[in-house]
Amino acid sequence: MLLLDSSDQNLRKAGSAIAEGKIVVIPTETVYGLGADAFNPDAVVRVFEAKNRPTFDPLIVHIASADAMETVARTIPRKARLLAEALWPGPLTLVMPKRGEIPDIVTAGLDTVGVRCPAHPVARKIIEYSGTAVAAPSANPFGYISPTTAVHVVRQLGDRVDMIVDGGPCTVGVESTVIDMTHETPIVLRPGGMPLERIQELVGDLAFPEKNLKAFASPGQLKSHYAPHANLLLFSQGALSGIDAATVPPNSAAIAFDAEGARLLQQKGCFAWVYVLSGKGDMREAAARLFAIMHTADESGFQALFAERVPETGLGRAINDRLYRASKKS
Ligand code: TXA
Ligand code: MG
Repeated sequence: MLLLDSSDQNLRKAGSAIAEGKIVVIPTETVYGLGADAFNPDAVVRVFEAKNRPTFDPLIVHIASADAMETVARTIPRKARLLAEALWPGPLTLVMPKRGEIPDIVTAGLDTVGVRCPAHPVARKIIEYSGTAVAAPSANPFGYISPTTAVHVVRQLGDRVDMIVDGGPCTVGVESTVIDMTHETPIVLRPGGMPLERIQELVGDLAFPEKNLKAFASPGQLKSHYAPHANLLLFSQGALSGIDAATVPPNSAAIAFDAEGARLLQQKGCFAWVYVLSGKGDMREAAARLFAIMHTADESGFQALFAERVPETGLGRAINDRLYRASKKS
């Protein structure tokens, strides 16, 4: 494995490696992704193997600019074009009818493909230099927390990939919002880094799949995703400060939303450590730090992590979704 900084020469190297069928970790604004040439089924199989990911879970195909949409999507629904023009590059994945040239392994045999143009300049340069579209899931072992720094990737997958490009910490910090654009009313498959409010402003109503259908609509949305090794116990907003300290096991840590929340939890005296998502209560900063805090908590060996929901607005939806899934570890 090669760990490279993001000099232009290295980005060219990474692009060529992808074109040659290698699997390369690339930084994006959401999380680090493990990329392969989307048109090369052998390379894509290696991505699934490196992650231990079941092949029923489709990958997102990344493009360097919106113009490349037609190379992966068979038709572009009107509202998809509108969203792409307004919100790309950015943390938004649009599910559209797929072109026959995209191998089935990429889309888990579905007739649709998830497409995203990432905002991170390093990701876009690598894709551009590869001369192809890049299929990339998050660069974590299946079911574990997504990486938001190159160090997370080195620790989790270092010996299983050909190359890792370090582009610094991810600024958004939660995965992209995934929207199914194949119906007149777009369907939210995964809340993520693009706030739903911004999408609604542009295309109006959004639909949410029934809870029990969700697993089929977006196979990657298994409940137990994004889980740290420690048990995460999730409370409703504001409820954690009311917990009976005697019920908290030793060697537990808590995750507070803001400085005031952290102060209340510290006062209880039952937590070995209190992490703060954002001292000033900024939702973007909270999202950017969430996974890094879970990684750090795991490295510190805490047995239980106590967290509470954050306000359900903007990126708060994605934060609550990831906290919920982390708490559902089987
Ligand atoms: O921010 C992100 O989206 C990151 C970076 C690397 O781009 N990628 C990422 O990929 O989170 P992954 O594989 O961890 O999650 C992709 C999600 C899964 O829930 C998958 O089921 C869904 O997108 N997905 C992909 N293609 C789909 C399709 N054709 N239909 C429905 N869901 C799809
Ligand atoms: Mg993932």
